[in-house]
Amino acid sequence: MKQWRPAVVILSLMLASSARGQVVPWGLERRRPGQTLLRGRSEESTFEEVIINEKGTGGYFATVTVGSPGQDLVMQLDTASSDTWVPYTGAPICEGLTSGCPMGTFDPHASKTFKEVTRDQFEVSYVDQSYSSGDYFADSFEIGGAVVQNLTMGLGLKTNIPYGLVGVGYPASEGALTTRGLVAYPNLPISMQEEGLINSVAYSLWLNDLDANTGTILFGGVDTKKYIGPLIKIDVIPDEGIESYTHFLVSLTSLEATSPTGTDILTSPEGPVEVVLDSGSTLTYLPNDMASKVWKEVGAEYQDIFGMAVLPCSHGSHPGYFSFGFGGSNGPRINVTMDELVVDLTNGAPPRFTSGPYDGELVCEFGVQNYSSGPFVLGDTFLRSAYVVYDLENHEIALAATDFNSTKSEIVAFRSKGASIPFATAAGEDDGGANAALPTSTTLAAAEGFQDLDDADSDSAATSLMIVVGRGLLALFVSTATMAVVGW
Ligand SMILES: *[C@@H]1O[C@H](CO)[C@@H](O)[C@H](O)[C@H]1NC(C)=O
Ligand SMILES: *[C@@H]1O[C@H](CO)[C@@H](O)[C@H](O)[C@H]1NC(C)=O
Ligand SMILES: *[C@@H]1O[C@H](CO)[C@@H](O)[C@H](O)[C@H]1NC(C)=O
Ligand SMILES: *[C@@H]1O[C@H](CO)[C@@H](O)[C@H](O)[C@H]1NC(C)=O
Repeated sequence: MKQWRPAVVILSLMLASSARGQVVPWGLERRRPGQTLLRGRSEESTFEEVIINEKGTGGYFATVTVGSPGQDLVMQLDTASSDTWVPYTGAPICEGLTSGCPMGTFDPHASKTFKEVTRDQFEVSYVDQSYSSGDYFADSFEIGGAVVQNLTMGLGLKTNIPYGLVGVGYPASEGALTTRGLVAYPNLPISMQEEGLINSVAYSLWLNDLDANTGTILFGGVDTKKYIGPLIKIDVIPDEGIESYTHFLVSLTSLEATSPTGTDILTSPEGPVEVVLDSGSTLTYLPNDMASKVWKEVGAEYQDIFGMAVLPCSHGSHPGYFSFGFGGSNGPRINVTMDELVVDLTNGAPPRFTSGPYDGELVCEFGVQNYSSGPFVLGDTFLRSAYVVYDLENHEIALAATDFNSTKSEIVAFRSKGASIPFATAAGEDDGGANAALPTSTTLAAAEGFQDLDDADSDSAATSLMIVVGRGLLALFVSTATMAVVGW
């Protein structure tokens, strides 16, 4: 649920929203697999929360407890916003649903430790036009076994989102500042450090495989058994002009496509692309020119009816990968394979292509979409392939290739406030080798390998795909959209 989300994503949200109203994605029973893991010596200064990959709505959700006695809620984890807020039990969106908001709500009257902070000053809005507003309050907040005694949170009295968010971004992006012009307050990562739960304002995110049900967020440390190869750090880019950090903005300096038939450089001629690492965005958004090259490689095509680039679901088993390079030629590189880039449409019944070369095949959304202006977004379709450490003290991000489905754990805490990321090495000076100076490939040698053309009509890659969507889907789409306008 990021603030940069391009308007086009509204379409997928609308599709998702009907599912939300009908299905309880999971019960509210406590999920604490992390507590049963053997933990290293750093146990006392790191906290690990299992996050659930909610494939129906998209996004990663944490089970938290608010107030005393504790009230259980399941909330979306978001690296691109900075407020933690809970839906109020009496919020119209929850009262409008027969069984209330299925992921839980907060009733201030039922908490003995509830303290109002400011009335009517909480307001956040996200670019997908979802919002939440109400009061700021302070109460206890438990995540991954860590209990923050006095966390400032938003109470969503009016919202169109039926669950709360745990925003773990920079305080400069808090709603209090961005919409009310108030001073920043210590948000979750900062409060955890201030209350002595973790040593430094930092955490690591391991989203794991697209097909896995869970990943983890580790506050205050790094788990060296969740990645392969070196952990390399790069700088977060401050906001232009104000020299202040608002988002996890980093420099994407190269993009290469590799398949059995070759390697192509797809970097934008406009040079390095500034991208926000956003766990709240299910898809990745690159500049139009880069995105269309990526689509040509894999045989995806933008379709107005979906408002996005789509391709046959079967392409998820095709060979080939994209290599995302950061911070210049010596920076980290993350390879993302096709099986992480072909995502089911979120509305349950998958439509089929009804004409063209993909006639009869199931339609999936492609993990890389386009947008016309920056900052661009690396969402979950990228982030799952990386282990990412967010250091909000030193304004550094460390990246390594993820170890998919790792069941091992060796947790190392940040030693002190402001200590550098354990085990991470600096990217070093850019020698310019892999940078935008290189010409972008004009012919796409890798495309044939990506599209596995042996088993398909070999003309299909070159010719434009004409996809006629069946009327059944169109009707479904229209009715879902109408529902979304009326309210979830
Ligand atoms: C809890 O936090 C609020 C808001 O920051 C603050 O006004 C209050 O004094 C704090 N209470 C305690 C006991 O620290
Ligand atoms: C990880 O586990 C999921 C099932 O939980 C499986 O579908 C997937 O293929 C596994 N990924 C890898 C890379 O082994
Ligand atoms: C990632 O891709 C690059 C470029 O093709 C390759 O050199 C590198 O070995 C790959 N890394 C891993 C971990 O597979
Ligand atoms: C994405 O690409 C399609 C096809 O080129 C175009 O119609 C659409 O406007 C683009 N979206 C944005 C946000 O630029």
